[in-house]
Amino acid sequence: MRTEEARPVRLEDYRPPDWLVETVELDVSLDATASRVRATLTLRPSGSGAPAPLVLDGDALNLRSLKLDGVALPPDQFVATPDRLTIAQPPHRRLRLDIETVIDPSANTQLSGLYRSGAIYCTQCEAEGFRRITYFPDRPDVMAVYTTRIEAERTEAPVLLANGNPVASGEVPGTTRHFAVWHDPFPKPSYLFALVGGELACVEDRFRTMSEHEVTLRIYVEPGKERRCVYAMDSLKRAMRWDETAFGREYDLDIFMIVAVSNFNMGAMENKGLNIFNDKYILASPETATDADFERIEAIVAHEYFHNWTGNRITCRDWFQLCLKEGLTVFRDQEFSADQRSRAVERIADVRGLRTHQFVEDAGPLAHPVRPVVYREINNFYTATVYEKGAEVVRMLKVLLGPGHFRKGMDLYFSRHDGEAATVEQFVQCFADIAGANLTQFMLWYSQAGTPEVVATGSYDAGAKTFRLDLAQSIPATPGQPSKAPMVIPLAVGLVGRDGHELPLKSIDGGTIERGVLTLTKPTESFLFAGVAQPPVASLNRGFSAPIKLSANLSADDLRFLAAHDADPFNRWQALQTLATRLLVDNTAAFQAGRAARTDPGLLDAFHVTLNDGRLEPAFVALALTLPGEADIAREIGRDVDPDAVFEARTALRGVLGEHLAGPLFDQYRRLSESGPYRPDAASAGRRALRNTCLDLMVATRRGEAISVAARQYQAADNMTDRMAALSTLSLCDVPERAAALADFYTRYADDPLIVDKWLTLQATIPELATLDRVKSLTAHRAFSFANANRVRALIHAFALANQKEFNRADGGGYDFIVDTVLAIDPRNPQLAARLVSALKNWRMLEPMRRAHAQAALRRVAAAPSLSPDVDDIVQRALAQH
Ligand code: BES
Ligand code: ZN
Repeated sequence: MRTEEARPVRLEDYRPPDWLVETVELDVSLDATASRVRATLTLRPSGSGAPAPLVLDGDALNLRSLKLDGVALPPDQFVATPDRLTIAQPPHRRLRLDIETVIDPSANTQLSGLYRSGAIYCTQCEAEGFRRITYFPDRPDVMAVYTTRIEAERTEAPVLLANGNPVASGEVPGTTRHFAVWHDPFPKPSYLFALVGGELACVEDRFRTMSEHEVTLRIYVEPGKERRCVYAMDSLKRAMRWDETAFGREYDLDIFMIVAVSNFNMGAMENKGLNIFNDKYILASPETATDADFERIEAIVAHEYFHNWTGNRITCRDWFQLCLKEGLTVFRDQEFSADQRSRAVERIADVRGLRTHQFVEDAGPLAHPVRPVVYREINNFYTATVYEKGAEVVRMLKVLLGPGHFRKGMDLYFSRHDGEAATVEQFVQCFADIAGANLTQFMLWYSQAGTPEVVATGSYDAGAKTFRLDLAQSIPATPGQPSKAPMVIPLAVGLVGRDGHELPLKSIDGGTIERGVLTLTKPTESFLFAGVAQPPVASLNRGFSAPIKLSANLSADDLRFLAAHDADPFNRWQALQTLATRLLVDNTAAFQAGRAARTDPGLLDAFHVTLNDGRLEPAFVALALTLPGEADIAREIGRDVDPDAVFEARTALRGVLGEHLAGPLFDQYRRLSESGPYRPDAASAGRRALRNTCLDLMVATRRGEAISVAARQYQAADNMTDRMAALSTLSLCDVPERAAALADFYTRYADDPLIVDKWLTLQATIPELATLDRVKSLTAHRAFSFANANRVRALIHAFALANQKEFNRADGGGYDFIVDTVLAIDPRNPQLAARLVSALKNWRMLEPMRRAHAQAALRRVAAAPSLSPDVDDIVQRALAQH
């Protein structure tokens, strides 16, 4: 375990490195339990500084030998511990170090550094895994040119890969071993290093870049799975083309490789020229993957590819700048998906994700700025805030400056900082320079945590034909930030006239409002629109132009009007969500108080109108007909949440909706019954989404006919999307058809771990009391293993994150189970354990009884002996008073 003495790490303590590394030659001899690593580093003192000790990071390392300029270094001239190698008085000049370490990849259960996924050797070095391979200045502002030689038994590891281009390979004379040498000419930080060795099959393709460079593309998978790489390869080629068109960015090596492995802590990793993926995000066929899986694969393949420019060519100076690569790259993958599919549907899906993950994080004890200023464990900062709010901040720059300036700013960033380790300030400065704008106040988006709240009040003056919009912003206190300054909020607005048409936006001083965006900068301000011929309905924060909580004085009639007429599809969806949320919050309170639920005929009509509006995209209608999730309702309620009451309210409304729209839902269901073979494209997926949403609402009535339709769809489906959709909706009802279908599903797919994961998740998310015991007994099922991160996520994370009702059981049994699991997993895989324990982070929102259970559960973790720094950091922050 690495040392804690230097922690916490603070942004204000950043100092440039004393020593730089020019080249790294790694020679890795793979062996299951004793892999030998020889690293030859050429180092030089950085800049003008005085002579400084040479301190290299390590983590659980075992030094075998050390030479300086080819001569063994006497033991009195260095100190080597498992986590540090110090040469107190190195010569103050360019020098060469030869470091030999031996590591045990089979014993590496943390999945960081060099480890084994099944029989495959692979690495994961972000954020601080390289120091588990060799001693090194393991920080992103040390960028070096790497040459990697890998050697292994030919039979055990016929395929040997590393970053860059292949330069040599061959037999090791007189042995059964072979080797390969790879060279990466682009200087990179150590976290982007990767190597892979094993028995892998590959699928190959080619791509000709915009400057006519031929690139070989390869996806390596377990032999026999080649046919399931088609969609990933297609996604990769589309991503490469898109980055050329949308950002002018071209690929830069002769070969681009992806390796899919079955045991991986994250989704995927952008190692230079050699991305390593969780195989869940590569393997797909119509029979094995759902439309959601295809969509996710496309996005993740693109995301990791896009890092080649945003992350690799230009990397981060330090880990506080993580959003510089992650937020920006999420923004880029969202834009890619929007262009490949439907922009409106993508935006709605992204905002749903932002609200369910990031808004919740921002409202609880783990809230932190997009660029944090302190951390104890960097792995705990790969968060929704850094990723998703980080992407929103980039999006706001585009909204504020317009697409032209935004693109020019990006171009300047790429040319000005190529080959460097940059900061958020340097990134934003490029846009300030291009647009001649002062972005000082904008920088608060990086430093202030918490979701800004904006209250909007519109009023119409019929005599003056003016419309006045009063806006007030505030930002709630978050840990360490009791008071906040006002932010720059780009609010895209429109005024919708009574006939449903857009009214012209003219400010009272005669100016037009550029791109329909009002820019708020003060705690309160007012905008006056002139020449408004009729009373308008204000459509605010169009396209979710700013990541804020907005409340406006819009009546139920106004919202229904927007749902039917707004030219901005995001706000059409939002209007329905707002109406439904109001009703669900009221009905949750009613259930808690033992009162009858309220009905809202207007809302039901609005849903009906949307369902029957043939001009709308099916995928949009599917989203519009999906009620806010339990977590969304809980967040809206904010305090003393009773998840059982939330569930009751939502379930009741689903049932009412299913009854009210029974005829039209069944008509749509029949009309959309797909003919022809499955295709994964967005339009076909959208039709399936709508059809399956209709099915879900039909089944919500619990009527026998609807259950039979679902059971038939389950049996007849020729693709995983329809089969899973039928099974999911059935799984919500305690009917005989459910047990039969679940048993059938396992029998069909028992040999395919990724599909069995779906089966585990389904059972973990059944909202009934028996689920906890079922999940516990599934941990003993032959399909489950605590040693595989995907299995743990499929069963246990899914229970904690996607089953609000049972995880939050009133008796605290859900929390106790998660804590038991966290404590069991922590010694073997701290990162996985830390992510799981984070499921308890919102305990303060709960009603008093559950709150007490959750707090006791967190305290039990905190009191456990020898916690990893990862888990300890989360529980300390989750429990802290502030
Ligand atoms: N660089 C990350 C992978 C990573 C995350 C490494 C945390 C080490 C610690 C990669 O680019 C990434 O962000 N992957 C995401 C998926 C992406 C589409 C948001 C992931 O793994 O979940
Ligand atoms: Zn990323």
